[in-house]
Amino acid sequence: MKFLKNVYLRQLILIQKMDFNLTEEQLMIQQAARDFAQTELLPGVIERDEHQKFPYEQVKKMGELGFLGMMVDPKYGGAGMDSVSYVLAMEEIAKVDASAAVVMSVNNSLVCAGLEKFASEEQKQKYLVPLAKGEVIGAFALSEPEAGSDATSQKTTAIDIGDHYLLNGTKNWITNGGNAQYYIVIAQTDVEKKHKGINAFIVEKGWEGFVIGKKEEKLGIRGSDTHSLMFTDVKVPKENRIGEDGFGFNFAMAVLNGGRIGIASQALGIASGAYELALKYAKERKAFGTEIINHQAIAFKLADMHVNIMAARMLCYKAAAEKDAGLDISESGAMAKLYASQVAMDTTIEAVQIHGGYGYVKEYHVERMMRDAKITQIYEGTSEIQKIVISRSIAKK
Ligand code: CAA
Repeated sequence: MKFLKNVYLRQLILIQKMDFNLTEEQLMIQQAARDFAQTELLPGVIERDEHQKFPYEQVKKMGELGFLGMMVDPKYGGAGMDSVSYVLAMEEIAKVDASAAVVMSVNNSLVCAGLEKFASEEQKQKYLVPLAKGEVIGAFALSEPEAGSDATSQKTTAIDIGDHYLLNGTKNWITNGGNAQYYIVIAQTDVEKKHKGINAFIVEKGWEGFVIGKKEEKLGIRGSDTHSLMFTDVKVPKENRIGEDGFGFNFAMAVLNGGRIGIASQALGIASGAYELALKYAKERKAFGTEIINHQAIAFKLADMHVNIMAARMLCYKAAAEKDAGLDISESGAMAKLYASQVAMDTTIEAVQIHGGYGYVKEYHVERMMRDAKITQIYEGTSEIQKIVISRSIAKK
């Protein structure tokens, strides 16, 4: 264990020296994700976006390849990889299909990671194993109609009535909301205690009183399914509470710190996917007698994209390496997400601009990427929330 920690610390030092020195295994995972994205995700990505079609077959294959429980210990059905490998795979998947990437990110970072770190052994055997193997997928239900950024203001309640809790309330904008089998639901168990009176529960699809609301019609990541969830007197067994009584808010925050690395990598992938397409187009498309990359107006846009993407990638690797080293990642995860999501937005807008009229139509992919990018500045903590996290962290130093 000590040896492993030393390996991670060495990797962190290498990353800080800007010498990524990816291992052979990490490069293999990157290549496997790249191949999967090209062969399985690219065909049909436009159609799934247009019709808001969930990538069922592709997600099933991602499970079989180990992409849905990447960092989980093999003894719980996972692939046992490190967080840097996860970032590498996320970037490759998101380059091609940001919708498939968010399914992967939520299952890995919010659901599996939360259960592996904080759930009981019984909960792990029952829920983590099938989730990590990708036999089923999970969802993380924190946001509510009146509690998004202000996550302590939970209105969903779970009242202790002896041998079980009675869950009531509504959750909004839940990724994997319709297709998940297991849901981690955050609820207030004692209003007086404010955030210390919040708990996290594992809830199964199909339990009496649990209704999945309408699928949201979204601007981007349209291949992913986003739903509201309604709970009316849902009986949640005591043994389905995660951790000690009152641990739910700290659980959610700890899980989201890791989740933000996943979303940062998704944003990185969207940006690098758009950049690669814009670069290719700029080398082929001619205007005023030459390929448009020879016009400084285009070349400088590409130079900016290239630099920004590299900087975003470094922040993602750094946060991931810190996670692998067991360090506090609240600040580095927030920095990676804040920066990479801005880069995704800027890059995709410019990629559309470089493509001109072609960029505005679906078959060139970049208009979808521009729509997909926006959510990375909103979910798992808006950019404004990331700035709260970062500024509070630096104020403490
Ligand atoms: N890491 C660890 N702990 C944290 C933390 C962090 N990043 N941020 C706060 N905490 C802890 C604090 O230490 C404190 O714990 P103690 O009382 O035990 O000391 C507790 O949480 C409360 O913290 P604050 O007093 O700072 O609470 P606050 O209300 O002032 O602010 C916040 C907290 C940072 C704004 C928080 O509410 C937040 O992160 N909001 C955004 C929520 C969010 O990311 N929602 C996304 C929804 S999930 C989603 O999008 C999933 C999906 O489907 C894709």
